[in-house]
Amino acid sequence: MASFLFWHMRGERAELASHTAMVAPGRRALWSLCVCFTALHTNALRVTMRESTAEVVRGDFVILPCSFFTSSPLSRLNIIWTLAPLSSPESPIQVIVYDHGQIIEDPSLIGRVGFTGIPWSADIMVNDTRLSDAGIYRCMVNNPPETADPGIGELLLTVLVAPSLPTCQWDGDMDAGGSVTLSCSVVEGVPTPEIHWDKLNPEEISLPINMEGELSGSVQIVNVSSQTSGLYRCSASNLLGTENCYINLSIYSAVAGSSSGILQGVLLTLSMSLMLLTLLVLMTWLHRTGQDGRRRVSKEEEEEEEEGYNEIRYTPSLMKRSFV
Ligand SMILES: *[C@@H]1O[C@H](CO)[C@@H](O)[C@H](O)[C@H]1NC(C)=O
Ligand SMILES: *[C@@H]1O[C@H](CO)[C@@H](O)[C@H](O)[C@H]1NC(C)=O
Ligand SMILES: *[C@@H]1O[C@H](CO)[C@@H](O)[C@H](O)[C@H]1NC(C)=O
Repeated sequence: MASFLFWHMRGERAELASHTAMVAPGRRALWSLCVCFTALHTNALRVTMRESTAEVVRGDFVILPCSFFTSSPLSRLNIIWTLAPLSSPESPIQVIVYDHGQIIEDPSLIGRVGFTGIPWSADIMVNDTRLSDAGIYRCMVNNPPETADPGIGELLLTVLVAPSLPTCQWDGDMDAGGSVTLSCSVVEGVPTPEIHWDKLNPEEISLPINMEGELSGSVQIVNVSSQTSGLYRCSASNLLGTENCYINLSIYSAVAGSSSGILQGVLLTLSMSLMLLTLLVLMTWLHRTGQDGRRRVSKEEEEEEEEGYNEIRYTPSLMKRSFV
């Protein structure tokens, strides 16, 4: 009993020194009291996880708490932390082991994991956290010859990741009346980022999205027109932040009513007027040259007629003359 209290108090101080403000002191005292009674009743080693879940932003450090209470000396203390990774829960790894004063770490965690209060507490610290560190951690403590009841505690670690920059793409027919698909995909993010598509101008409106899996979503725009042109934004967001990508859609159209339509109409009218004018000038010229030609032709005819007439006129006289 006396030795238990001694270890317990020392453990308490060591923990407080190694990481403050993890658990409120009031709560801790109350919980210690409860555990104290339980330990007195059963007189067996007992492991308690002060938290059942923990969250860390990728890259930050995290302390995984594991307290144990024993009334035996700690010379044969043995602690094993295992991890069933979220990505492959069926193949757990030994994160770190404390055995007879020796510490062994898993190769994937060498230099990143360590005990914070050994041998008084089994808490560990993981530095420079990675996505692969997420999963279910088990803390197993044995201190022979004392029996363990239970000697195992469990804790779920979530590694949070801000959304990565999404990729915006478009596909389809940009001509008026065509249909365009805007798609957006994000590579990572924990919790899974939510994807939204918005049209930003002339006013901001949210667009209905078709999700393709968890990390990509598309928007279908049918019968595109000049009104469909504008800036579109895809945003991927979770509790750690938001990342955006954009598509600037320009629909090529000659729809009357828009300013370009009017301009084209004006140009069309102008060019047609010009053509008509040219035609008119051409016709006038043709008409005039035609009249001149005819006039010239009639003069020649007149002359010819005159000549003919002369011939005819003279011929009888000649004939007359010859006959005379
Ligand atoms: C984690 O980093 C802190 C400070 O950066 C350092 O004091 C501590 O020893 C590191 N822990 C491990 C297990 O490497
Ligand atoms: C496409 O849009 C134009 C104008 O924006 C409209 O006159 C036409 O009826 C639409 N066509 C269809 C098939 O919806
Ligand atoms: C989108 O494109 C149009 C025409 O190509 C251009 O005038 C406008 O400035 C662009 N907007 C942005 C935000 O890039």
